[in-house]
Amino acid sequence: MIAIAYVSNRSMLFLSTLLNYVPFLILFIKICDAVAVAKILNATLVIPHLEVNPVWQDSSTFMDIFDVDHFINILQDDILIVKEVPVEFYWSTREYYATGIRATRVKTAPVHASANWYTENVLPVLQSYGIAAIAPFSHRLAFDDMSKDIQRLRCKVNFQALAFVPHIRALGNSLINRLRYPAQGSEVSTNYLEELDNTNKKKGAGKFVVLHLRFDKDMAAHSACEFGGGKAERLALAKYRQVIWQGRVLNSQFTDEELRSQGRCPLTPEEIGLLLAALGFDNSTRLYLASHKVYGGEARILTLRDLFPLMEDKKSLTSSEERASIKGKASLLAAVDYYVSMHSDIFISASPGNMHNAVVAHRTYENRKTIRPSMALLGQLFLNKTLTWPEFQEAIREKHKNRQGQIRLRKTGQSLYTYPAPDCMCNA
Ligand SMILES: *[C@@H]1O[C@H](CO)[C@@H](O)[C@H](O)[C@H]1NC(C)=O
Ligand SMILES: *[C@@H]1O[C@H](CO)[C@@H](O)[C@H](O)[C@H]1NC(C)=O
Ligand SMILES: *[C@@H]1O[C@H](CO)[C@@H](O)[C@H](O)[C@H]1NC(C)=O
Repeated sequence: MIAIAYVSNRSMLFLSTLLNYVPFLILFIKICDAVAVAKILNATLVIPHLEVNPVWQDSSTFMDIFDVDHFINILQDDILIVKEVPVEFYWSTREYYATGIRATRVKTAPVHASANWYTENVLPVLQSYGIAAIAPFSHRLAFDDMSKDIQRLRCKVNFQALAFVPHIRALGNSLINRLRYPAQGSEVSTNYLEELDNTNKKKGAGKFVVLHLRFDKDMAAHSACEFGGGKAERLALAKYRQVIWQGRVLNSQFTDEELRSQGRCPLTPEEIGLLLAALGFDNSTRLYLASHKVYGGEARILTLRDLFPLMEDKKSLTSSEERASIKGKASLLAAVDYYVSMHSDIFISASPGNMHNAVVAHRTYENRKTIRPSMALLGQLFLNKTLTWPEFQEAIREKHKNRQGQIRLRKTGQSLYTYPAPDCMCNA
């Protein structure tokens, strides 16, 4: 009993978070699991420090992205969270762990470890030293065989405790306002609550669709598919594959046709345009493009823009002064797109991946509509050179009837953060 009291009052869980890919989305999941592990151990959690992401070169910290006070407040009845390690543990730094074997560092957490693993292997460290650092920590907590309370806590962290910092929400709300009331225009308000309030009062809000599109060079090259850009593009992508992965791209063993019919080729902006048109969207649809950088630039999205002239993005809707605080910061740019995606009437993503999974799950949790394109069907239809437009449209509509937000239950081994039902839902 004494040991436990000691643990709950003094222990710290210090987590290393080396980020990769779209940074803040990976972090979502790590921080949720960190809270769960702290709960299992009755330990205090120290807000993690982020390392600069080598790919995105983004030095944004947890506190630059998320509203930390909100985070701590929402979880105050669940666990104790502190922003910094207390003075007596100041020696417990990233450098300290990087430069030698340390008794307070736990390196052996297996992938998808059980709750028992933590009480057997980390609790003794906490009891002896008052602090433990678990690194690496990605995917180190199982999704199955966890108590209901722990699952609920993970849901609470992911869907309620993590809120973006006020300036991201303010910018996001301005974008949403301008999409809903295109004629009025509005200044970015630093008081996001006020702006949200005004939004609710105004009448005749227009609807908008968010299209999440990831079609960057990295992805195009890695898919090993062809994208109709002719010989020059084929050579450019082949060269990129050679330089970046020394040719080791798993998909290379398949032909373009095989990959396409399996739905393994990213959809091009043009293909997505045809999909949207087949589903009944038209030139009166207000479309927001949530996208980082499109390989091929404006030329590649020309067809999409022709079909949907009311297409907007972060850049078209804001001035450069308004974007100054997020300029060049991949995680903040992604956060703004995430925020707008969460508030759209319809969300459609043509790019499976972290952002896709996170937004789809969050929208499921909030019961908002999402369209999930069938990549395999699209691949097959685009290969068919004799298909007419009415046939294409018919096939698309038929296949997408039950891909418009119907809840899919999590299966064993799947992530709670991708499939929040049933664990995060009421009466589960
Ligand atoms: C944590 O606290 C709870 C409630 O006080 C207790 O039931 C549980 O055994 C504790 N767990 C550990 C690992 O100390
Ligand atoms: C939208 O499409 C309709 C029907 O194809 C056409 O008549 C109309 O001119 C278009 N409007 C704009 C603004 O392009
Ligand atoms: C192409 O589509 C047409 C019309 O649906 C169909 O009859 C034909 O079999 C398809 N061809 C291939 C190669 O799948």
